[in-house]
Amino acid sequence: MTDPQSWSFETRQIHAGTSPDPTTGARALPIYATTAYQFRDSKHAADLFALAEMGNIYTRIMNPTQDALEQRVASLEGGVAALAVASGQSATTLSILNVAEAGDHVVASASLYGGTYNLLHHSLPKLGVTVSFVEDPDDPEAWQALVRDNTKAFFGETIGNPKGDILDIETVAGVAHRNGVPLIVDNTIATPYLIRPFEFGADVVVHSATKYLGGHGTAIAGLIVDGGTFDWAGGKHPGFTTPDPTYNGVVYKDLGAPAYALKARVQLLRDLGPAISPFNAFLVVQGIETLSLRLERHVENATKVARFLEGHDAVDRVNYPALESSPWHAAQQKYAPKGAGAVLTFELHGGREAGQKFVEALELHSHVANIGDVRSLVIHPASTTHSQLTDEEQLTTGVTPGLVRLAVGLEGIDDIIADLEAGFRAAKSA
Ligand SMILES: Cc1ncc(COP(=O)(O)O)c(C=O)c1O
Repeated sequence: MTDPQSWSFETRQIHAGTSPDPTTGARALPIYATTAYQFRDSKHAADLFALAEMGNIYTRIMNPTQDALEQRVASLEGGVAALAVASGQSATTLSILNVAEAGDHVVASASLYGGTYNLLHHSLPKLGVTVSFVEDPDDPEAWQALVRDNTKAFFGETIGNPKGDILDIETVAGVAHRNGVPLIVDNTIATPYLIRPFEFGADVVVHSATKYLGGHGTAIAGLIVDGGTFDWAGGKHPGFTTPDPTYNGVVYKDLGAPAYALKARVQLLRDLGPAISPFNAFLVVQGIETLSLRLERHVENATKVARFLEGHDAVDRVNYPALESSPWHAAQQKYAPKGAGAVLTFELHGGREAGQKFVEALELHSHVANIGDVRSLVIHPASTTHSQLTDEEQLTTGVTPGLVRLAVGLEGIDDIIADLEAGFRAAKSA
């Protein structure tokens, strides 16, 4: 039997984690709409609860449709296991709470999606987990300088949303490991087709599968992928080395490579409960089956749009790492040689008013708070996705007043550019 990990990315995005349904022969992934699973007998039930045998118990913590999604994404990222959850936000939350508790500390890049910044800056501190933000994530010393005795993890986005900076994964992972902590990265914009963070030393990958993995703007979903290589017995993470009284005294580090993913599932998903619906897991799997094809076209269209914008006299600057003008162009060539994704931002002459007029004039582009859809999307971050941040926080996360964010879709490139031209005409009148 062929080892599925020896297959190409394109083959694994279709086949990893699924096979024909043994009972019905159904070839596509069934949606297992069930909350619970019948135990064979009392011993079977007891063994499952004791983790002596793996199997389905209750859909809040596992489901066969969810399992297919988890296996597929773990395979594409090159991890040992994954956990699918209800949203990207819950993936990020669980990924951190799995290693840090009240009294602990995390070091994070300041270049983050606005919702992640809020989570790290406001909500986690309410739970007792404090976060220090690295203003210049390209400087390894800046990461090191923020490390404390109680630091439990580093966090960053492989391609920052919306700043478009590329995390120097290898260097930052090196600093994290020197301090005995894992590097957790959000790989939402890149997807494993463009960047595979484990190959550069990251330890945990999170996704908003709502975006390019699902790809069609139909489901909210998140994933946590366990790289399986971090040494949890290193001394900094007692949650892995001391018995868990809520799980028959299991010591997670003894569970082998997928210790992190197992702990997240049986402790945090069990207790906090952000379960993914089987239907949403199905939708994300459908999306993943064409991931490489969609990403190729997303990248092609985004690169053409970036070059068009760069040549436009109404544009002050374009942020897209594949452009030679980007400070992260060299990093893009190293980490994302197939392309820099399809999210880009630009600053219009005329600032905030011009930006808003531009957005309103577009017809083909949908004005929505999302990225990673087959449709081209546009938004003015300062008044929307990042509006809950102070002006100073907005600048820290890369959001200037006249910034417009595009998530370039899969439509015909001439139609996309014609729509943008209409936006420029409207912005000029502002
Ligand atoms: C980079 C990134 N991470 C995480 C999230 C949160 O994901 P979700 O909306 O699925 O909760 C988003 C949402 O926009 C995002 O862009």
